[in-house]
Amino acid sequence: MAIQDKIKELLDKRVQAKLGGGEKRIEAQHAKGKLTARERIELLLDEKSFEEFDMFVTHNCRDFGIENESYLSDGVVTGYGTIDGRLVYVFSQDFTVFGGSLSDSYAKKICKLMDKAMKVGAPVIGLNDSGGARIQEGVLSLAGYAEIFEKNILASGVIPQISAIFGPCAGGAVYSPALTDYIVMSKKTSYMFVTGPKVVKTVTNETVTDEELGGAMVHGSKSGVAHLVAEDEREGILLIRKLLSYLPQNNLEDPPLLNCSDPIDRLEDFLNEIIPENPNKPYDVKDVIHLVVDNNEFFEIQRHYAPNIITGYARFNGMPVGIVANQPNYLAGVLDINASRKAARFVRFCDAFNIPIVTFVDVPGFLPGTAQEYGGIIIHGAKLLFAYGEATVPKVTVILRKAYGGAYDVMSSKHLRGDINYAWPMAEIAVMGPKGAIEILYQKELKTLTDQAAREKFLKEKEEEYKLKFANPYNAAKYGYIDDVIEPRNTRFRVIRALQSLSTKKDSNPPKKHSNLPL
Ligand code: HXC
Repeated sequence: MAIQDKIKELLDKRVQAKLGGGEKRIEAQHAKGKLTARERIELLLDEKSFEEFDMFVTHNCRDFGIENESYLSDGVVTGYGTIDGRLVYVFSQDFTVFGGSLSDSYAKKICKLMDKAMKVGAPVIGLNDSGGARIQEGVLSLAGYAEIFEKNILASGVIPQISAIFGPCAGGAVYSPALTDYIVMSKKTSYMFVTGPKVVKTVTNETVTDEELGGAMVHGSKSGVAHLVAEDEREGILLIRKLLSYLPQNNLEDPPLLNCSDPIDRLEDFLNEIIPENPNKPYDVKDVIHLVVDNNEFFEIQRHYAPNIITGYARFNGMPVGIVANQPNYLAGVLDINASRKAARFVRFCDAFNIPIVTFVDVPGFLPGTAQEYGGIIIHGAKLLFAYGEATVPKVTVILRKAYGGAYDVMSSKHLRGDINYAWPMAEIAVMGPKGAIEILYQKELKTLTDQAAREKFLKEKEEEYKLKFANPYNAAKYGYIDDVIEPRNTRFRVIRALQSLSTKKDSNPPKKHSNLPL
């Protein structure tokens, strides 16, 4: 073959590979409101930065008639490129080829990509849109999944792994995304479940649609499986780009610093008034967050799940931080099972990737009740405690109002190696709130007080006494458990100074194989 012909052959093969399963199937993909695997990569990466490999891979199956049907790339597009100039590895499942189903060759492509990403220490982004195991390949396909799972597990805590779900993701296939750090789902076009509606109907007699069983909002608000819910794929892709801007490339690097034009000493007078006089009245802790971070920009994670605790990323003087905050606006900011699990996972991710943690505390305690106890609040609450206690990244805490009981300890207290712990003057730090405390402390006296007016007078006096002692930050500050009581409007400056002083922090845990997190 002449050289010109060889070059033409290459170019023809490239054109053919880029067509995936063919034009008709691409049209069908578009008709469903979905992008193709390659269109998604183009949107995700910086312009012209994508370098593809393994374009010429095909499957090796000789059964069920598909020996005569094969497509270049075999249903998954793999390669690397950049996002805001930073290297990332990406695989994108191509639904137009055998419904994006996973073959032995396909799995090997993903494993190879993950090995490369691990060698150079760069994030992996997986764009999922697949009918699961390629049925014709049997155990080879199952083996392929398991080999990807193992790579996901070994990469966990070394490089950030992000999964987008832009189509079906069912059966065991859900477990690769579940092993990664973040799951992004697009509304209406994606779903995830271990068993689909038909099996559910047979086994439990429930009638549900794909969307009701495993759509984006179900996983964003009920199960907590999805961390980010996007209106559509394009928004999902933008969310991935934004998320990565807060993360380091790997566990040996620090997160990327940006130039900051927002004055570090910006005073926010509104913060001096944000806490209501009545301690039982709520306010929105997100207002506090927005007012203190750079340019009022807060990137929230798991917004719809367990909204009694807020988690997300922001910057202080250009430095990325993870923010955890109790939300008095929802269930009074109480810690329950879901909130504990949500925040624990977030804290552990930040710790694994050298992202300092800033915690805003306003917590009345753990949620009482049989539902919580039977659900294992003891073990789930312990997850958050464990996560904070184990974290060695800089930890700055600001108690805004309530810090009661065990929840005081859990929320990045001094006792869990909190580095700098501030409180606002309105802070109340005690074993429990005044009313409950007085009823327990003065049970005997209260029994003898049968006259209602006398009883109320007694309660009022004792509550005042208790508040004087505990409903302030100075008792904790007396023991050094609070480093300083700060003026609310100056919080931004004080947090930035705290983070600056901790930028060279070194701390470690005793050598061990791994800890035994209460799972
Ligand atoms: C081979 C598959 C396939 C699969 C779909 N296709 N799934 N080929 N293996 N798993 C093919 C179809 O034959 C069809 O080929 C094309 O992909 C598009 O599929 P459609 O059914 O036409 O598309 P749609 O109506 O959108 O439905 C998509 C779907 C459905 C919901 C994904 O195809 C489906 O239910 N597939 C089977 C899913 C499944 O049961 N997978 C196994 C799960 S268990 P043509 O040639 O017509 O374009 C699993 C275990 C993993 O994955 C275990 C890991 C440990």
